[in-house]
Amino acid sequence: MEIRRISSKERLTHSFPLQAYAFEASPAPREDAAKYSDLLPFQEDNLTLVAEEGGTSVAAVSAIPMRQNVRGTLHPMAGIASVTVHPLARRQGHIRALLDRVLGQMRDEGHPVSALYPFRASFYERFGYVGLPKKRRVTFSPGDLGHLVRADLPGELTWERIGTGYPAYRAFTLRLAAERHGFAVFPDYRDERLRADDLSWLVTARVGGEVAAAATYQITGHGADLVVDDLLTTTPLSRTLLLQFFARHVDQVERVTAGIAADELPELWGTDLQTEIEARTRVPHSNAPMARVLAVPPLAGARVGPGRVVVEVVDDPFIAGTYLFDGRGGRLEVGGDESGVPRATLRAAGLSALVYGVLDPDELPLRGFGAVPADAGAQLRALFPRAVPYLFADF
Ligand SMILES: CC(C)(COP(=O)(O)OP(=O)(O)OC[C@H]1O[C@@H](n2cnc3c(N)ncnc32)[C@H](O)[C@@H]1OP(=O)(O)O)[C@@H](O)C(=O)NCCC(=O)NCCS
Repeated sequence: MEIRRISSKERLTHSFPLQAYAFEASPAPREDAAKYSDLLPFQEDNLTLVAEEGGTSVAAVSAIPMRQNVRGTLHPMAGIASVTVHPLARRQGHIRALLDRVLGQMRDEGHPVSALYPFRASFYERFGYVGLPKKRRVTFSPGDLGHLVRADLPGELTWERIGTGYPAYRAFTLRLAAERHGFAVFPDYRDERLRADDLSWLVTARVGGEVAAAATYQITGHGADLVVDDLLTTTPLSRTLLLQFFARHVDQVERVTAGIAADELPELWGTDLQTEIEARTRVPHSNAPMARVLAVPPLAGARVGPGRVVVEVVDDPFIAGTYLFDGRGGRLEVGGDESGVPRATLRAAGLSALVYGVLDPDELPLRGFGAVPADAGAQLRALFPRAVPYLFADF
């Protein structure tokens, strides 16, 4: 078996057919294969590796060079996608080999973190990934927002197709990526697909001339649903401006449903607002995302709390080693081993859980992610306080 990087054009013959078999209804009519060439520009600079046997591609993995905010710093992030194996070549170690190679290459090219949407979390846990919260979906009736219909709010709304409003939307998501923990964005060439497909409406709220909230959405029919992809807001006023916009659809749609961060509390958005909030996880196509640390020293500078602890990372090809973490200055400093300091032994998933803020140190031994004595646990809890990452990008 040989592993090699394929060119953009080779995707048509070496990776798309495997992907189509794994992720789509199939077999599709042969002529449908032509549509895949339209997708090539949006994958141009992805790193796609294939495993070949006798010149035939039997497995493929792609990494998208994305960016993600981790505790206040925007890092290059390897977004792993299109992990597939030929049906006759599964369980022969191809993905183990390809993932190790693709993650190593992305790490060497300067991506200290990686994220993905798993088909089954336990598969990627073996590769050092830990679960992140799943985006919630809130559903409510625009009729419950009647009090907003005529409210006089200091802000302006713009309504257009995403094909037109894309530059402002993109700029806004890049701003959120700079500010919000966990927020991840595509590279320009991949994000362009939103504009090219032009299959969403865009509503934007500006306050003082600045974009303060935005949402892309679709309407499924008269008397049906208004479906918001992600309700992106920065302040109570900007959120209320968007809710007012939805309220004005009271005689047009029955329900509004919107993707929201896991730490949003929509039941507090208005008096008598009836809400349903859902976060359902399902194998294989509706799982919560996962993420991992691929390189530790670049995490220096992260916004952290006042802890000081030595962590020995074991059992990992990328970050095994011993690190001194010091957060007493409010920014993470990363050094080498030191004696006389509380000490924990963690697997990559355990350190990733703390860096992303998703698990308490006491949970790590229970999950098989490491050994954390009480004194080290207290330091780690102070250093990496719980945080709720909002991944945003869907890939
Ligand atoms: C799931 C799939 C990608 C696995 O690829 P593979 O080449 O068969 O996997 P490997 O043989 O390299 O196995 C890697 C490791 O995961 C384990 N593993 C394999 N399938 C697993 C599963 N479904 N759940 C949990 N662990 C699994 C293996 O035992 C192996 O562990 P080890 O390296 O510690 O011994 C492949 O079967 C496939 O293409 N499935 C259909 C498409 C799909 O689901 N893609 C994933 C999209 S995110």
